[in-house]
Amino acid sequence: MSDKPEKLITDDGLRLDGRHADEIRPMKIEIGVLSRADGSCYLEWGRNKVLVGVFGPREAHPRRSQRADTAVIRYKYNMASFSVEDRARPGPSRRSIEISKVSREAFEPVIMAELFPKTAIDIFVEVLQADAGTRTAAINASSIALADAGIPMKGLVTSCAFGKVDGQIVLDLNKEEDNHGEADFPVAMTQDGEITLLQMDGNLTPDEIRKGFELAKKGCKEILEIQQAVLRKKFETPVEEPEAGV
Ligand code: CDP
Repeated sequence: MSDKPEKLITDDGLRLDGRHADEIRPMKIEIGVLSRADGSCYLEWGRNKVLVGVFGPREAHPRRSQRADTAVIRYKYNMASFSVEDRARPGPSRRSIEISKVSREAFEPVIMAELFPKTAIDIFVEVLQADAGTRTAAINASSIALADAGIPMKGLVTSCAFGKVDGQIVLDLNKEEDNHGEADFPVAMTQDGEITLLQMDGNLTPDEIRKGFELAKKGCKEILEIQQAVLRKKFETPVEEPEAGV
């Protein structure tokens, strides 16, 4: 781990990457990047790079995993060994199993799984480059990949973390802030603001949590706009103007 810089927030109130406390990192989304997946998304968020492939609804195997009344949703978060500074050990870890579980649960309230009994909907996440906030980046990308696959959903899910750095509440921590900050609090929410993921690493007072939540809501709103713009660009068919006099 790198040494802690003297200050993570400079005297003019800016963070070391030049952001204000309430700013998210720049986000870039590409949709439909994998030809064998039913839906896919590549997302860059700051220095994070994640790729998501969605498969299904398809017959669930093994058969005993099928449910007569609904589709099973499976979410697999994997970190490539080259995605971090020290090589990540290949294969599942306690961390990746936990992230997979909480991320699957973040989608369960929106995916209309009951329409597809006996099937499975698989969401595969590959983190190619990590710089803190990979679970939130992966959830934002998965939302797009699920929509690209045409999976019926009540709405998109967006995700963003807030945390405490040098005693200040800030939005969307980068790796340096995550390593040397005091708290990290990832949140995911539906379009209607219903919370579907909430985790806390570190200590925050109730007031700090309230303040952080306001930031997270703002961040998620901005991300939702980016997601909607990407989906509109791909799926919106231009309305043809009728010719004059017809
Ligand atoms: O990525 P996220 O913030 O969702 O999860 P985290 O467990 O809080 O990890 C924060 C960051 O630590 C990751 O994004 C990676 O940059 C780094 N990390 C690492 O270097 N090696 C690992 N085995 C796991 C995480």
